[in-house]
Amino acid sequence: MSRGSRSRSTVEHEAALDTSFDPLELSAASEWRELSDGGYSEVYKAHLLGAVVAVKQATSRKKTSGEALLREIRYLRQIGPHPNVVQPYGAFVEHGKLHLVLHFTRHCLRSDRVARQCDPIKVIAGVARALVRIHSFGIVHRDLKARNVLVEADDTSILIDFGLACDLRLDDREWIGRTVGTKKYRPPEMRDGRPAQPALDVYSLGLMCSKLVRQRRDAHSSDESSLSEDGREERRDMRLLLELSEDCTKSVPSGRPTAWALLSRLQRHMGEEVTRCDAPRSLVPLGRSPSALADAARGEIAGRRKRRRNSDGDRSRCSRNGSRDKRGREESGSREEIREKRARSSPEAKQRS
Ligand SMILES: Nc1ncnc2c1ncn2[C@@H]1O[C@H](COP(=O)(O)OP(=O)(O)O)[C@@H](O)[C@H]1O
Ligand SMILES: [Mg+2]
Repeated sequence: MSRGSRSRSTVEHEAALDTSFDPLELSAASEWRELSDGGYSEVYKAHLLGAVVAVKQATSRKKTSGEALLREIRYLRQIGPHPNVVQPYGAFVEHGKLHLVLHFTRHCLRSDRVARQCDPIKVIAGVARALVRIHSFGIVHRDLKARNVLVEADDTSILIDFGLACDLRLDDREWIGRTVGTKKYRPPEMRDGRPAQPALDVYSLGLMCSKLVRQRRDAHSSDESSLSEDGREERRDMRLLLELSEDCTKSVPSGRPTAWALLSRLQRHMGEEVTRCDAPRSLVPLGRSPSALADAARGEIAGRRKRRRNSDGDRSRCSRNGSRDKRGREESGSREEIREKRARSSPEAKQRS
């Protein structure tokens, strides 16, 4: 096989793995409707076989805009599907320009109407949830503001615009230390030239909270003074947002809460706890090739059989809400691991290897 044909088949293979997105299914550019013409990109409303989508196109006015869009694609792929992060469907090049096709969300938090009518706690909790995810990958958004938060009809918030983000693990130091983003949302440490860290996004989220309170004050002033249940709820919500804003905008980054702590507080306020399941689940990355996926599934089935064989009848059970009771977790999860470790380090195993 020649070098050329090998690299072509690799590209085709990767394209097949990417998503099943076909750019020819997207309506013609002449039919797109412009949604925004910002500094870095132009965003259009288009149709993918009749379904509404957003198309983000690098602008020709800025040399770095193609780079920013490429970065955005890289970060979105890394973050993967998440209920509060915009979903990319695919990317393509037309007339030499890079385009990114995204799930379309109609409302944006920058609109006063949306800010006043939404459930502010649910919206801010959604942004905090997105931050938990991106920060766990070492990604800092660096341009968090109402304009970059879309809001679905059920108040699910969607974080967009990763063109100025940075990856603390993979990007070079110059980019991580670069002063970027909207001036009034920048934290003091960025003005002092310190490199980005997750607390930077928390600061911007704090400013978003106080802005939301200001926007709602006029619209809900009669509610606020009223003794109705709505009025009381609005007052409670605004009090929480102001408290969060104060905590998030502390001048020392280490004094600010993490996105996880913020999410927990917001969820508790809504009467829900944030829970994580301790069950021994192993991840099957969806980006894998079909054969690798089948291998992963086979490994999982084999693991399940082995666990059943090893079981001595008192394996932990999941409680009603899905979380394990502590005793069970300590007994089963760790015991299996210990057995495996012992088997690996036994003299027989060492001799075999
Ligand atoms: N997926 C989307 N669905 C609907 N509107 C969008 C979408 N993505 C972007 N927009 C609109 O386009 C604007 C600019 O998009 P953004 O990604 O922030 O680009 P820029 O880098 O130019 O700021 C947003 O504020 C929003 O109004
Ligand atoms: Mg933007």
